[in-house]
Amino acid sequence: MPTQETKGPFVRAMFAAIAARYDVANHFLSFGLDFLWRRRAARIVRAWQPKRVLDLATGSGDLALALRAACPAALVVGADFCLPMLRVAQGKGLGQLVVADGMRLPLADGAFDVVTVAFGLRNMESWPAALAEMARVLRPGGHLLVLDFSMPPVPLRWAYRPYLHHVLPRLAALLTGEKSAYDYLGDSIEKFPCGPAMCALIAGAGFAEANGERLTGGIVSLYTARRR
Ligand SMILES: C[S@@+](CC[C@H](N)C(=O)[O-])C[C@H]1O[C@@H](n2cnc3c(N)ncnc32)[C@H](O)[C@@H]1O
Repeated sequence: MPTQETKGPFVRAMFAAIAARYDVANHFLSFGLDFLWRRRAARIVRAWQPKRVLDLATGSGDLALALRAACPAALVVGADFCLPMLRVAQGKGLGQLVVADGMRLPLADGAFDVVTVAFGLRNMESWPAALAEMARVLRPGGHLLVLDFSMPPVPLRWAYRPYLHHVLPRLAALLTGEKSAYDYLGDSIEKFPCGPAMCALIAGAGFAEANGERLTGGIVSLYTARRR
């Protein structure tokens, strides 16, 4: 597993290796639930009526596409530091794409009304620093939405752990040829804060009204907050 210093290059190389098969693996391994999670996120963003949205760690662009459909009047910009993933997004018709590291965004202060990050924050080398960077590019009062995996509460946790650590990496190896990426996935989910701990992390990075909701029994969590 990578150290904090090697996490960025490790994660970028890992997604470059699975980019072509990422969507298939995602939809198959989540039993199609990932569409519902992103649709829920897009509905929340629509209610904020943004003009400019940054979808950070946009990857193959599925959340950016859902946001574009939900907010047709908004400019939706996708940013990611993995070019092969952005090429997949481009192939789906997304045009506003930026190659950028979430730890050092080449974007102006206060440039966006909304920042979203789906299944991306967990992979960044410093969660507080990445959240602070998201706060920087948001206008005061702008909204943050974080969607990511979380460990569900007991008793679902007992059934989920064997799936996450044993079944999922083997299935993923068949689909992508890259078992190690999915060994990393389980470890990263175990380490990633969720619930009140994630709300505290978000609040500490310059946000107010941090709130979390569990989706699908808690295997995914969705957080919202407003930049102070
Ligand atoms: C699991 S994929 C999620 C993609 C997409 N948001 C989705 O919902 O399917 C994680 C993405 O985060 C990107 N990522 C990880 N760390 C990043 C960073 N520091 N800066 C920019 N992108 C990053 C990876 O390149 C990858 O495309």
